[in-house]
Amino acid sequence: MCGIIGYCGSRSATRLLLSGLKRLEYRGYDSAGIGVVHENALQLYKKAGKIETLQSIVPDELEGNWGIGHNRWATHGEVNDINAHPHTDCTGKIAICHNGIIENCESLRNRLEIEGHRFSSQTDSEVIAHLVESFYEGNLEFALKATVSLLEGTYGILAISVDNPRQIVGARNGSPMIIAIADNEKFIASDVSAVLAHAKQVIYLEDGEVASINPDNYEISDVRNRSIDKKIEIISLELKEMEKGNYSHYMLKEIHEQTDSISRALKGRIDEKQATALLVGLNMSETELLAVKRITITAAGTSFYAARVVAYLLEKIARIPTTTELSSELRYRNPVVERGTLYIAVSQSGETIDTLMAVQELQRKGAPVLSVSNVVGSSIARESHGGIYIHSGPEIAVASTKAFTNQLAAMYMFALKMARMRHMAWSEGKKFIKNLSNLSDKIGEILKNADKIEQLARKYSGAKNFLFLGRGINFPVALEGALKLKEVAYIHAEGYSAAEIKHGPIALINSRTPSIFLVSDDHLYSKVLTSMKEVKVRNGPVIAISTERNEQISRIADDVFQIPKAEEDFYPFLMVIPLQLFAYYCALELGCDVDQPRNLAKSVTVE
Ligand code: G6P
Repeated sequence: MCGIIGYCGSRSATRLLLSGLKRLEYRGYDSAGIGVVHENALQLYKKAGKIETLQSIVPDELEGNWGIGHNRWATHGEVNDINAHPHTDCTGKIAICHNGIIENCESLRNRLEIEGHRFSSQTDSEVIAHLVESFYEGNLEFALKATVSLLEGTYGILAISVDNPRQIVGARNGSPMIIAIADNEKFIASDVSAVLAHAKQVIYLEDGEVASINPDNYEISDVRNRSIDKKIEIISLELKEMEKGNYSHYMLKEIHEQTDSISRALKGRIDEKQATALLVGLNMSETELLAVKRITITAAGTSFYAARVVAYLLEKIARIPTTTELSSELRYRNPVVERGTLYIAVSQSGETIDTLMAVQELQRKGAPVLSVSNVVGSSIARESHGGIYIHSGPEIAVASTKAFTNQLAAMYMFALKMARMRHMAWSEGKKFIKNLSNLSDKIGEILKNADKIEQLARKYSGAKNFLFLGRGINFPVALEGALKLKEVAYIHAEGYSAAEIKHGPIALINSRTPSIFLVSDDHLYSKVLTSMKEVKVRNGPVIAISTERNEQISRIADDVFQIPKAEEDFYPFLMVIPLQLFAYYCALELGCDVDQPRNLAKSVTVE
């Protein structure tokens, strides 16, 4: 979603802001803009569309060594040049960029208009520029603090004034913000990826904090002007991890990376001798873990489907009743929090606003919350009691792939630990670890046959509707497969339990509606086969993802893609790979913007 960057130093701000915005574009956006100050004049360039379009209207040698930039993902007001950020006050001397949503913008706008302020955009964000103007008496930091005290909603705000040379002021509430420190220059941004090429030392701002930076210094305080001492952290991420390499798309790269990324999730976390997992980040003692009576996992999007897979596993191997709930529902539902219930929030980005708010609501009710996140230092990771980093490496494509398998791997290890503390024998634990360790090779086997999925995509990408069907632990994988196809290829797809088709979806079956069945050789195998036959006799094209050498399936299905055999609990890791590839190749066939699908955002930081 929106991305934000500010720079002050001695280099060309234009170049740094534009390249920073380019690094942030993976988050999803629809317009972009920069405001650079030179000789007391604010030079503003804003454009709907991609960064390249903005770049084409910015003069090559635009002078100025401080300024702010923004990628916008529209919430209030349509996508056009005027609604793009930065927004300015009536004098044109103050400029702001804003991530988030100002919920009381209507009343603030009415009040400001009565006071004589003239608005030029339809955005909620513009009220911030005019409020800063109304409080500004030479001290920009004071004016921003006074402004945020009136705002309801979420924000990450940057403000500059031409009268305060080389100063940028930022405030955070619910939208991530970091300061990056380098010699004689400073950055302030919504995401480390924007600054990674220039600085390794960062400070993460918390909600309620206000930062003021200039090339030589930074200060952080709260709205009551109390100065706050913050720890400087070193980013371990390397720039090359964020590059596309030889792949045509990030999505394809990230799908192929899963052989390595899954091994990274396991590295150093397996205790072979005791046949359990070592998860020190949980910050919970064995006694506390043993006292857990129930688990609720909350998440959104792909992370939610990973959670649903793991709920099956936790109940099965650890015998702990486990439920899952969408974080967007949980946060507003006034959940009953009982002693003995452990909550787990799963989020690749660690910034999804609904999941973050659910974590905060649960903590207000006294619940212990663990996080499963990819981004070190992200809000959800920092605000939870402990957790597991999934270590999948940066995921740039909007559609999540390698994070899904690594979320599974991280939570499978958690399930192993919980199971070993309860009913699972040492020998079973050993077997479980072996199965986990074999996954990388099996994923590699599947990826070697990516061209077969490409052929299937060519054959079927013309269909307007798909059904994805699975049962048991593979049911959430079917949901994920349908989500992937919708996200990147814009094809309508429904994920269903294969058993449920008789209660509705079978009415959709005809020769133009393909069904993709996930058929693993588990205790539900014959049931899935029956559902496949029911589709086939109604002329529905059937694609089966099944295990090696299965003649029975080949006789029913029109097309079969074979995956290696595995223990039944481990099929989700393998089943999902062909589904990711299928979505990718369908998107490619249909000429879709694979890495940045329309209307979607990588990190959903607004409601
Ligand atoms: C967005 C992304 C999805 C992601 C979901 C949850 O919709 O496009 O890929 O699964 O948010 O994000 P999270 O970062 O919390 O896992």
